[in-house]
Amino acid sequence: MASRSIIITGGAGFIGSHVVRLFVKKYPEYRIINLDKLTYAGNLDNLKDIQDCPNYRFVKGDICDYEMVRALMAEEHVDGIIHLAAETHVDRSIVDPFEFARTNVMGTLALLQAARQYWESLPERYEGKLFYHISTDEVYGALELDCPDGRDCGFSAHKVYGTEFFREENKYNPHSPYSAAKASSDHFVRAFHDTYGMPVVVTNCSNNYGPYQFPEKLIPLFIINIRHRKPLPVYGKGQNVRDWLYVEDHARAIDLIFHEGKVAETYNIGGFNEWKNIDLIKVLVSTVDRLLGRAEGEDMGLITYVTDRAGHDLRYAIDSRKLRDELGWHPSLQFEEGIEKTVRWYLDHQDWLDNVTSGEYQKYYDKMYNNR
Ligand code: NAD
Ligand code: TYD
Repeated sequence: MASRSIIITGGAGFIGSHVVRLFVKKYPEYRIINLDKLTYAGNLDNLKDIQDCPNYRFVKGDICDYEMVRALMAEEHVDGIIHLAAETHVDRSIVDPFEFARTNVMGTLALLQAARQYWESLPERYEGKLFYHISTDEVYGALELDCPDGRDCGFSAHKVYGTEFFREENKYNPHSPYSAAKASSDHFVRAFHDTYGMPVVVTNCSNNYGPYQFPEKLIPLFIINIRHRKPLPVYGKGQNVRDWLYVEDHARAIDLIFHEGKVAETYNIGGFNEWKNIDLIKVLVSTVDRLLGRAEGEDMGLITYVTDRAGHDLRYAIDSRKLRDELGWHPSLQFEEGIEKTVRWYLDHQDWLDNVTSGEYQKYYDKMYNNR
């Protein structure tokens, strides 16, 4: 029998596929069950290289289906859940908030309840069990951009754009339907610890980038548009700041916290890497141009300022010193190196892009951007 049996939800999505790959390869003695509904954002092509590994099983299913999850947990003697399944795109949450409440709130609650019922039915109950909930920094709300030209800061290699940072003890203050739904799910997870004694851990991570991200998010969308010389729709004035982390560094942090994190704790995960959107977009244009053999910066004219996103959070900046100091985690990649790798990956994987953008997404994209 496997030494651990772990359900990873949302394992066919962007971050989930990196986490599944890491766990399947690094822990052949574990059984890894990828539970994913395969929405527009989930794609089994993301996991082709590990799909035949003997310690891996894919289950197509909806986390909202309590009975199915409960039965799967018993069948597989599950002792760990790493929960990534969610609706994740802020723009979609503005269009359809119900789907976000359904998946992110009710889905998380169904998983929690199924885990509780199953683990409480065992003689050893919660011993050796863990419910690990993956959340976002967006639950903390927006920070001021009170140093618009950037400044040095003792704990960040990159310049920072404000005096405040998201810390684990900050109060939640979500603004978008996406972050409101994630915040609600975080509260349910902590409530299951406080009420039933379920061993849980929650992490709040900053914006991720890297291979296999669905091309509705800024970085992959813009790489493709630059390649095909389509307009780059910059929301507002492009002054919003995001803190970017390479996705494999997030996956490494999840591995570390799953094994060594303290139960009932929260850990922020971030790259100490703040960028104004417009500066990041200029780096993308230069990098894509260079890698395609065009004159560097020749496509800057594609930058098109469009109507701002409703409720657009101005600045996200994570203080992840707790994770660094307590568990010794550091981002492994410099941003320049990560962006270069990422651009190369998208330019080399046109087949993957054609596959994931062939259906429903294209209709959504046309509707969104033709109206701007
Ligand atoms: P994604 O949108 O790429 O993937 C989500 C996955 O969840 C897809 O495979 C989808 O099929 C699956 N899914 C959706 N609804 C489901 C349901 N009802 N049942 C089962 N599976 C379902 O998302 P991502 O960017 O990889 O994000 C993963 C998690 O990490 C999310 O919880 C997100 O809130 C969190 N997060 C993301 C970022 C980021 O920058 N992408 C940053 C911090 C935290
Ligand atoms: P996104 O990748 O959607 O992540 P999030 O909203 O979760 O931070 O967007 C990153 C930033 O880029 C955000 O400030 C919104 C901005 N943005 C644009 O300016 N244009 C776009 O087409 C997209 C998708 C995002």
